[in-house]
Amino acid sequence: MTRILMVCLGNICRSPLAHGILESKLPLDQFIVDSAGTGNYHIGYQPDERATRIAKLNGIDISKQKCRQFKISDFDNFDLIYVMDDSNFSYVVKLARNPHDIAKVSKILNKKFTELQDVPDPYYGDDTDFQNVFSILNAACDFVAIDLRNIKKHD
Ligand code: 4NP
Repeated sequence: MTRILMVCLGNICRSPLAHGILESKLPLDQFIVDSAGTGNYHIGYQPDERATRIAKLNGIDISKQKCRQFKISDFDNFDLIYVMDDSNFSYVVKLARNPHDIAKVSKILNKKFTELQDVPDPYYGDDTDFQNVFSILNAACDFVAIDLRNIKKHD
């Protein structure tokens, strides 16, 4: 099993979308996908209803996810940790115990497919912002899924 964790601030908008989208692109007998937030504001709650609605419109059900906070043991329980923005990156890397932990962390957007550095936070936005985030993450997860399948091939 390869285990992938998606991380944003609240774990109710971006990382639940990334979690659901990536899950939809991978064989789940070989991969485990989860998500977490750096903040503790919404622990135990379902994703933001706007995120759930946009996901559903795009054929993905994220309604059964539950918000949780990132914890240090996530470095042991996941092989790869994708963060949505620089602020998430700094938070997670500060909790790293060693270079091995740090090596697991990367930003989900990269120059291979976008000039965008960060997945914009749609929390204070509207449905258009959520759809934009969905589209960004859908493209990003296509690249992540290709990379992951290639890693598996060479295991
Ligand atoms: P997310 O969005 O990090 O994509 O889940 C946010 C959700 C909640 C808050 C901020 C960002 N908040 O401040 O409560």
